Amino acid sequence: SWTMANYAKTAVAQIKETVGTGKVVLALSGGVDSSVAAALISKAVGNQLTCIFVDHGLLRKNEGDEVEGAFKDSGMNFIRVDASKRFLDKLAGVTDPERKRKIIGEEFIRVFEDEGRKIGAVDFLAQGTIYPDVIESGAGDAAVIKSHHNVGGLPAVVDFKGLIEPLRNLFKDEVRELGAELGLPDYLVWRQPFPGPGLAIRIMGEITTDKLAILRDADAIFREEIANAGLQRSINQYFAVLTNNRSVGVMGDFRTYDYTLALRGVTTTDFMTADWARIPYDVLDKISSRIVNEVDHINRIVYDITSKPPSTIEWE
Ligand code: XMP
Repeated sequence: SWTMANYAKTAVAQIKETVGTGKVVLALSGGVDSSVAAALISKAVGNQLTCIFVDHGLLRKNEGDEVEGAFKDSGMNFIRVDASKRFLDKLAGVTDPERKRKIIGEEFIRVFEDEGRKIGAVDFLAQGTIYPDVIESGAGDAAVIKSHHNVGGLPAVVDFKGLIEPLRNLFKDEVRELGAELGLPDYLVWRQPFPGPGLAIRIMGEITTDKLAILRDADAIFREEIANAGLQRSINQYFAVLTNNRSVGVMGDFRTYDYTLALRGVTTTDFMTADWARIPYDVLDKISSRIVNEVDHINRIVYDITSKPPSTIEWE
């Protein structure tokens, strides 16, 4: 019968057969997908796997340190690469969402290749691509909606023999189930999804270090208050978006002309369709006053009340 335990067993056997005595590098983001892929591949081939965590400078507040903390002592080969300058230089002046994705996707692969070369004789590249990534990237007959960087933007993987994507047939809830089956801790299994291009697609228009700092602080407050309200499991994905819109406000005796921040929260099972989350007004109120008071350059907060479709979950 089909169970997650059987799925894991079959996948482990397949990975063993494909990899043989080869070396594998995995793109570890610290998200559910890549963490579960890492655990599965590690179970199959142990130390033949090296996990490479690329800090592209587009992560949420403290996220880089959290990921490092979670994996460094796990017994897996783990390397953190601080590549933020490389990414931000390439993204300077870029405003188009699909170009952002393409640049980030390509740079990701370059960084892996560079790290792979340092490891030497790497045979396989592994990724935590899941089924919705595959169909939304236009594989098969589905229309191209967004080129998710971990599939669509993949340049020729010149240095590698092959690609290992053991989660390609799974939906998000199945990936979590598999993660639990493999014994991953709850805080990893239940982590909300975070897109590969990171905050780049949550900053409308040009990405600057100033805008990144503003968004990080605002997003951290949003997440903290959602946790304080005990809503972190019932809202499947929630985050702040820094719009490119500025408007007039008043702070004390002064007129301000600052950014509008948008809050997004959705409930969904498969992320293919989603409903906007009915966050209680008093929770929204607390989040709004905290952000405006604690984060400079934001003087207006809006809550996104569109579902998917017709909107997407991310704004870009
Ligand atoms: P959308 O915005 O397409 O998002 O409704 C659906 C889910 O996919 C995530 N997402 C991405 N993940 N690379 C990723 O790895 C991307 O380019 C990307 N774009 C969106 C999004 O966060 C949501 O969970």
